Amino acid sequence: MSERVIIKEVAPRDGLQAQPKHLTLDQRKRLIAALACTGIAELEVGSFVSPKAVPQMAGTDALFADLTAAAVEYSALVPNMKGYELALAAGATTQAIVVSATEQMNQNNIRKSLEDTLVSAEDLLNRGRADGVAIHAYLAVAFECPYEGKVNPEVVLDQARRLMRHQPARLVIADTIGAANPREVSNLMSALVAEFGAECLGCHFHDTRAMALANVYAALESGIRYFDSAVGGLGGCPFAPGAKGNVATEDVVMLCESMGMPTGIAIDRLLDAVNLVSELIGSPQGGRGHYWLSNNWQKLSA
Ligand code: COA
Ligand code: ZN
Repeated sequence: MSERVIIKEVAPRDGLQAQPKHLTLDQRKRLIAALACTGIAELEVGSFVSPKAVPQMAGTDALFADLTAAAVEYSALVPNMKGYELALAAGATTQAIVVSATEQMNQNNIRKSLEDTLVSAEDLLNRGRADGVAIHAYLAVAFECPYEGKVNPEVVLDQARRLMRHQPARLVIADTIGAANPREVSNLMSALVAEFGAECLGCHFHDTRAMALANVYAALESGIRYFDSAVGGLGGCPFAPGAKGNVATEDVVMLCESMGMPTGIAIDRLLDAVNLVSELIGSPQGGRGHYWLSNNWQKLSA
């Protein structure tokens, strides 16, 4: 199995969508530019959602018009076919769609039932295949839901099977509220890897209970090589109470690189991006390793 780890940077979307401070388009553009030059493989630019639901993400189409770094795979999150069309028109050839594993989370997030969300995801996957758009299908609240509590892994496996029949470019298991522990991650991801292979699977962790990095490690051990993370540990979901920041990109890079698993990311440039995030948000940001890394980053790349 390859040791290379592919990180999708999600700060410009997951990181900003729940911030009380709404960044301007120009500020979002600066953040994307700072991240694009770190060597990051993938970058989620924003989402094509109702600006009434998530005003922080308004104007994502204008951001797509301005992307420059060719080596980065840029993507956008879309909640429905309208979002898909808008994203495609803006040039998003990789898109993320979301099915929450529980009834109530779908109702609160996109005002649809679980079954309707699954049907809509199937339509989006079929449409993406026809158009040559790579779709990353997310199963959100895959371990615990803020409204319904613990989620049975068998339910998630069934939902995964249903989505996989429509061949997403990737299936991403998301611990949206940061409630999973490494043993649960290991059990679920190992079962998924056994059934579908690791090549089409990814993980998305939040650090609410300080276990995000341990969960990344558990997923790595299960064979997963695709991870979402947000620079500075920014993040949260406006519709999932208690959701804290995403696992910090600099922490994931530090974990992987120190174990000899390359990420392709220049840590000094990433730290510059953390500083920019702090400046834009107006308060200090940074993952758990930020202080050590700021003073010792050369040791990591040695
Ligand atoms: N992008 C922009 N506008 C959209 C849209 C999209 N993808 N989908 C719907 N809209 C607009 C409609 O045109 C309509 O506009 P109008 O009020 O000016 O006529 C309005 O939103 C309501 O449309 P409707 O289909 O009735 O949707 P809704 O009110 O039931 O809301 C969502 C459903 C999905 C559009 C909305 O809940 C949403 O955008 N949620 C975002 C969820 C999210 O980002 N969660 C975090 C990441 S998982
Ligand atoms: Zn998230």
